[in-house]
Amino acid sequence: MRVGVLTGGGDCPGLNAVIRAVTKSLIHHGHCEVLGIADGFEGLMGDAPRTQPLAWDQVSGILHMGGTILGTSNSANPLRDEATLAQVGRNVQALGLDVVVAIGGDGTMSLAHGLRQIGLACVGVPKTIDNDIALCERSFGFDTAVATVTEALHRIESTGNSHHRVMIVETMGRHAGWLALEAGIAGAADIILLPEIDYDLEAIARRCREREQRQRYTIICMGEGAKARGASLTVRERVAGSPDPVRLGGVAHVLRQQLQPHLKSEVRATVLGHVQRGGDPTPFDRVLATRFGHHAAQLVIEGRLDRMVTLRQGRIGSVEIAQVANTQRTVAPDDELIAMARDIGVCFGD
Ligand code: F6P
Repeated sequence: MRVGVLTGGGDCPGLNAVIRAVTKSLIHHGHCEVLGIADGFEGLMGDAPRTQPLAWDQVSGILHMGGTILGTSNSANPLRDEATLAQVGRNVQALGLDVVVAIGGDGTMSLAHGLRQIGLACVGVPKTIDNDIALCERSFGFDTAVATVTEALHRIESTGNSHHRVMIVETMGRHAGWLALEAGIAGAADIILLPEIDYDLEAIARRCREREQRQRYTIICMGEGAKARGASLTVRERVAGSPDPVRLGGVAHVLRQQLQPHLKSEVRATVLGHVQRGGDPTPFDRVLATRFGHHAAQLVIEGRLDRMVTLRQGRIGSVEIAQVANTQRTVAPDDELIAMARDIGVCFGD
């Protein structure tokens, strides 16, 4: 059997651990040849598919490495038109691929699902630091990103505390607040702003003023998708549409401008950006990614195709890719973590 492996969407700590586990498990099983596909689905598009054979040696020594040895792309769309789709079909046939293991986020799962129409069978492995893939309680990469953001909050607290400032830290996460929520709790943020709970500027200013009197500094951890109550767009969407998005530089800077006139303390903003997506995976993510990769190989071996590996109630399993394509898992406003954080005094800006 010939199995392709690709990584799609943004890079994420633990991708190499999955590639390694899939490859080693298939080789260990025997009768399997593994081909790494370059740059996500892009490697299957165009006249000449870009692949490399993956054997034991090629995937040894990569467990701990961030990024992906295969390269990735989040703009390649093999479904974009009929000609592209037909070319992908010819490439898959020429390569003799029986199945592709697609490691990626919701976008990659949707593409994998769409490729059924040319008869390409896929097994999906969920990846994202946003932790927002439906029917999967934890994706690898999230733990590493939480650790990075937590450390950043801790470092930023030194400046907030010393200068008696309000420090706003913007995290990634797109439309889901998991990263801001967990890192905010771990990093002892005083205010956590999530896409799922619209914030009220006055409520944030009130909490900062209370803290000006006593602790004299405030740490705000803000997901990039957070938006003010009544606003139809997130600040990021408004920034993207503004004539000078670079000058504004992220939602944290916009909030800083809005908040400063209401406070005596100086307000500062930090956008963590890709710092939180890179670097070596934590031990937790290395283990989770290895479990995911191993299970993906089992699905291939058992012929259980068009399924995505999942983690539910701590157990590895799988669901049909069709069930997760084009869906996202966001934080419920009554999530246990939010209720807990409120009880220990965290303000959600509402
Ligand atoms: O989905 C992962 C993610 O890191 C999001 O949190 C973020 O909004 C996005 O990717 C950034 O993508 P890019 O690297 O293309 O700017």
